[in-house]
Amino acid sequence: MENFVFENSTKAYFGKKCVSQYLPDLLSQYGSRVVLAYGGGSIKRTGIYDEIMDILKKAGKDVIEFSGIMANPTYDKVLEGAAQVRQHQADLILAVGGGSVMDCCKAVALAAVYDGDIWQDFWAKRGRIDVTPVPLGIVMTTSGTGSEMNGGAVITNEALKIKTGRDYPQLNARFALLDPLYTYTVPKKQMISGAFDSFTHMMETYFSTPDEDNVSDSLNEALMKSVVRNLRKAIADPEDYEARSNLVWASTMVENRILKLGKQGDFQGHILEHALGAFTDCNHGCGLAVLLPVYYRHIEAAGAKKFARFATEVWGFSPEGKTLAERANDGVEALVSFVKEIGLPTTLRELGMTEDQKDLLPKIAATCVASPGSYKHLDGEEILDIFKEAW
Ligand code: NZQ
Ligand code: ZN
Repeated sequence: MENFVFENSTKAYFGKKCVSQYLPDLLSQYGSRVVLAYGGGSIKRTGIYDEIMDILKKAGKDVIEFSGIMANPTYDKVLEGAAQVRQHQADLILAVGGGSVMDCCKAVALAAVYDGDIWQDFWAKRGRIDVTPVPLGIVMTTSGTGSEMNGGAVITNEALKIKTGRDYPQLNARFALLDPLYTYTVPKKQMISGAFDSFTHMMETYFSTPDEDNVSDSLNEALMKSVVRNLRKAIADPEDYEARSNLVWASTMVENRILKLGKQGDFQGHILEHALGAFTDCNHGCGLAVLLPVYYRHIEAAGAKKFARFATEVWGFSPEGKTLAERANDGVEALVSFVKEIGLPTTLRELGMTEDQKDLLPKIAATCVASPGSYKHLDGEEILDIFKEAW
């Protein structure tokens, strides 16, 4: 194992009814002004809004609503939220939603207390910011990104056509409430794309050095098998609590930094998808479903041993009588079949891109950098090839 320092400052509360059980006490630890942040309104349709509002009112809080956070949250939305938090001098931001709401709120928590140009100093330059963000609490309503238990946030600057993210420990939420029952109402396509997103976080950590025996890879194999098994069960019965609860915790586990310990990590697939998302606003998990298999075909020879191990340990292929290259290919093709089986798009056209958008591919490719953690260094030409092959 390589050296590491580990800390995770988010306290997670998991399980049925955890919001009514724990939120009242958690709220008592903060001042009276709470910014309640949410997305496009699903929480009003599902009753989560009423439940939380009731708890906030009983706790005597002054509630300021910050709503309309869109999927793939924009930098403009971050600035809007930061202005609101500043104006009302909020004591706590309560983010109720999925990755988009959680990420936007993390960015808001920082922007609200920073006097300089937060885009330049934090998102573009990736510098350290010497301020303490506004305290953040999370009630997660859909799983997949793992944002609930890390400092990661992904923001789209529409003007610059840049979708970028970073994990900044100070942005970890103080607490995260994870009730798998809340995820029952998530549309099936989102449930599947979220679970697949978490699966890619596992793969992007697993397919990277070091490859000698290490705890991260072994845990990852167990988690990948768990996602495959439980996603199949959740597709068959969306109200299978065992399946939904396993999907929630698996997606948290892979992004709470534990699995990254001692691993370099790749995330080239995410670099490609974020570039695509900046230009097309596509669904994150669906974009990954299109791009990851194509990318893996490009690197399977370079990472043959690991792809072969993936085929055997995750998908149950027998290694007998096969060359290393054949075994590696079994792993990649098993992934391709799984994407088809769960009904995610396999081409950029299926993802919704139209003929007239084909011209965008060189522009999208040009904004991608090569990941230092990849088994193979991709140059600009090969990155463009990946987008073309994904068409
Ligand atoms: O906006 P509302 O109306 O709430 O509807 C949402 C949204 O349309 C809906 N939804 C959420 N909970 C629901 C529900 N509908 C019914 N019932 C519920 N209980 O689901 C839709 C998608 O929500 P969103 O938050 O956009 O999805 P997700 O959690 O997949 O987040 C995607 C964002 O996270 C970023 C992605 O790039 C994308 O911007 N990521 C964040 C990461 C991180 N912070 O570490 C890592 C990831 O790799 C990823 O890049
Ligand atoms: Zn992701």
